[in-house]
Amino acid sequence: MHTPFLRTALGLAATLLASSTVLAQAQPPLKVGLMLPATGTFAALGTAIENGFKQYVDEQGGKLGGRSIQYFKVDDESDPSKATDNVNKLIKRDAVDVIVGTVHSGVALAMARAVKESNTLLIVPNAGADAITGPLCAPNILRSSFSNWQPGFATGVVAAQKGYKRAMTITWNYAAGNETVKGFTEAFEKGGGKVTKDLTLPFPNVEFQALLTEIAAQKPDVVFAFFAGGGAVKFVKDYDAAGLKKTVPLMGSGFLTDGTLEAQGASAQGLLTSLHYADGIETPRNTAFRNKYAVAYKMQPDVYAVQGYDAAQLLGAGLNAVKGDFTKRDAMVAAMRKTPVDSPRGKYTLSAAHNPVQDFYIREVKGRENAMTGVAVKVLPDPARGCKM
Ligand code: BEZ
Repeated sequence: MHTPFLRTALGLAATLLASSTVLAQAQPPLKVGLMLPATGTFAALGTAIENGFKQYVDEQGGKLGGRSIQYFKVDDESDPSKATDNVNKLIKRDAVDVIVGTVHSGVALAMARAVKESNTLLIVPNAGADAITGPLCAPNILRSSFSNWQPGFATGVVAAQKGYKRAMTITWNYAAGNETVKGFTEAFEKGGGKVTKDLTLPFPNVEFQALLTEIAAQKPDVVFAFFAGGGAVKFVKDYDAAGLKKTVPLMGSGFLTDGTLEAQGASAQGLLTSLHYADGIETPRNTAFRNKYAVAYKMQPDVYAVQGYDAAQLLGAGLNAVKGDFTKRDAMVAAMRKTPVDSPRGKYTLSAAHNPVQDFYIREVKGRENAMTGVAVKVLPDPARGCKM
């Protein structure tokens, strides 16, 4: 027989349980807009990001913070001229709660402007445009990847340490290429080197021949390149075919050889790059991630898959802190900012400007791997120039 006190306590507990069950049931799926390239030179990068994001959600039983996830997708084609229309499909037509995107810096800059206006939460799973965590920084914009300055700077440190004195750079003429080269130049010249010439071609052109002829004529000590995806495959093969691989060492931010090794084959062997991920990081976290990814998607993961996985981890940390209640945006973003991300790349946290503060590895292409051979810079923050938040 229960005492009156015990009866009251049991009644209260039952009511609380019932109301929390109703709350969890009453919460509709969280609407996640994936704005990524599905076509063009960065198509494979978009696929890897989506795979990584979904892998983390699946590992959580299909829910983040108790909310199931409903996906809405837009192919942004890596085309900045269509970016505002494309992001508005997710913001206005689909009324998504959060947008995850994108790969191309120029597209991401337009997305950042649009979400600042609508106050939609944006998680950037690749695009490195410095302004996103610089002058355009905002409480509703977070990045799970890098700023363009970071891998450029880290590679510049390595090139200077190797004793190279005269460098030429080559890239596509758009934010990612130009800002990565700027980061490289800053570190390389601080380390005693000199960039003698910057070569560019429009994105996403792959007619490299005239520029390779100029490199052959100038004979610098080293060439630094930023290319990614399909463009990186063609560049590395053309560099080799032009006979330059044997005469002028080629270095790059790690995008030059990430997700591309199968297609680059022998032309990529031995290339040195720097990035915030390497295939051969021997931690239980990375090994488990890689094994699950290979089973689920029948291919090897790359840096883009890691960044997609971490975008979902970030969102999950925020939603867990508010038990799935997306109306508690301030508390949610505060948790995303403060919760360390247990990434396959290694643990990291976000800076005040919402950019990863992370290690940059030295990688060397060995077979089908970007093997880790050292650390270029430990715990490298982005300078976040111009961010007022
Ligand atoms: C970018 O446009 O920011 C970017 C694209 C591919 C790889 C890395 C950066």
